Amino acid sequence: MNITVIGSGYVGLVSGTCFSEMGNKVTCVDIDPIKIEKLNKGIIPIFEPGLDQMVLKNVKNKNLFFTTELDKALKDSEIAFIAVGTPMGSDGAADLQYVLAVAKSIGKSMQKRLIVVDKSTVPIGTADKVKATIQAELDIRNSNLEFDVVSNPEFLKEGAAILDFMKPDRVVIGTDSSYATKKMQQLYHPFCLSRDRFICMDIRSAEMTKYAANAMLATKISFMNEIANICEKVGADANQVRIGIGSDQRIGYSFIYPGAGYGGSCFPKDVKALTKIAKENGYNSKLIIAVEEVNDAQKLVIAQKIVKRFGEDLTGFTFGVWGLAFKPGTDDMREAPSIYVIKELVKRGAQIKAYDPKSIDEAKEHYLKGVRNITYVASKYDVLNDSDALVLLTEWKEFRSPDFEEIKIQLKTPVIFDGRNQYIAYDLENKGLEYYRIGK
Ligand SMILES: NC(=O)c1ccc[n+]([C@@H]2O[C@H](COP(=O)([O-])OP(=O)(O)OC[C@H]3O[C@@H](n4cnc5c(N)ncnc54)[C@H](O)[C@@H]3O)[C@@H](O)[C@H]2O)c1
Repeated sequence: MNITVIGSGYVGLVSGTCFSEMGNKVTCVDIDPIKIEKLNKGIIPIFEPGLDQMVLKNVKNKNLFFTTELDKALKDSEIAFIAVGTPMGSDGAADLQYVLAVAKSIGKSMQKRLIVVDKSTVPIGTADKVKATIQAELDIRNSNLEFDVVSNPEFLKEGAAILDFMKPDRVVIGTDSSYATKKMQQLYHPFCLSRDRFICMDIRSAEMTKYAANAMLATKISFMNEIANICEKVGADANQVRIGIGSDQRIGYSFIYPGAGYGGSCFPKDVKALTKIAKENGYNSKLIIAVEEVNDAQKLVIAQKIVKRFGEDLTGFTFGVWGLAFKPGTDDMREAPSIYVIKELVKRGAQIKAYDPKSIDEAKEHYLKGVRNITYVASKYDVLNDSDALVLLTEWKEFRSPDFEEIKIQLKTPVIFDGRNQYIAYDLENKGLEYYRIGK
């Protein structure tokens, strides 16, 4: 099939590349000429395991193309995916300006029957707006071209995006058109060979499914963080409690790690957007509002532990930070807990020495740009020299079994603060290190 994917970020680039991997002819479009120029030179603008090899292979095989010119891409396409950002607007609602701008461009430039697929996470009712926007442009052109609008929310996880896309748990398709259903099933069939993974539903339910999924996962995280905070007060160990409750199949082990709160490009904005959607429709979503409040507070728990140990005024102290990305396997720092922890420490006068295997450029260029008192170093052990304590914030594998002797020798005071989700029983007290983690 000939496909256009509009928006070549984490979702668009991965989706387009995976569709091309199955033999489709895919053109990825982006409004950012620098991104497209890089992609056309074989430079992949994001870090996602396995993505670069797959892109290069499919470009070489002439299955994958990159352009800024939507009209040329659409010329031969049967399906156009909208995969642009839907960031949090100033009022907390999802900002639809990019999605609707794309819809307008599609209406202006489509030349044949088209299935337009919302892959971006969009508020309920957006497909209707996309449809109306395209139709308005076709009316201006006096065109009676047919088109369908489908909701196909994306569930990939950054850091495992290729695997998730190639072997999805489910493919949710929201449509009222049998033509579109058939085409979408045809497109996704190669990804669903072992069993049927299609879940077809009406468009609004598909749009809602994405928000409900993210809100459920965020709720599990905030619930466990709240339990962890209570554990600290009553002398219980949240990690042992986690194992105790996870063994119940109705609860399960996933997403119940206590930690420094959820970040990333999706949960914070989608949880917020869902509360706005509810409010706009006359419902006060108390639980989901609380999920967000718990998370906002949780991002500062590690900083509070540092203050408790070193004092309110951190002038003269240096903290070594391992991990800036919001989770391992990605360079993405959107809403990462590290941003909040580092800014809080710097506000109190501290110096920071930071290391991350993939996110240092993101930190320098965007998320910690202009924040004073930060030095970035090239290896994890370079963080330690002259630092008063080590702060772990992302569970990259290379931080799992560090050389604790080296850490103890190099740090000015042998103190570790661990804000990672996944606890490892290190028995550090017996190694002469002070160790603080969330939930104990
Ligand atoms: N990142 C994730 O893990 C993830 C997972 C599931 C769903 N989503 C959803 O998918 C959507 C995209 O997320 P993302 O993380 O890929 O965003 P992103 O910011 O990485 O990428 C968006 C891309 O769209 C481009 N763009 C903006 N306007 C454009 C236009 N008019 N024409 C062409 N390109 C345009 C931008 O330049 C950018 O490259 C969001 O709605 C997000 O909530 C994201």
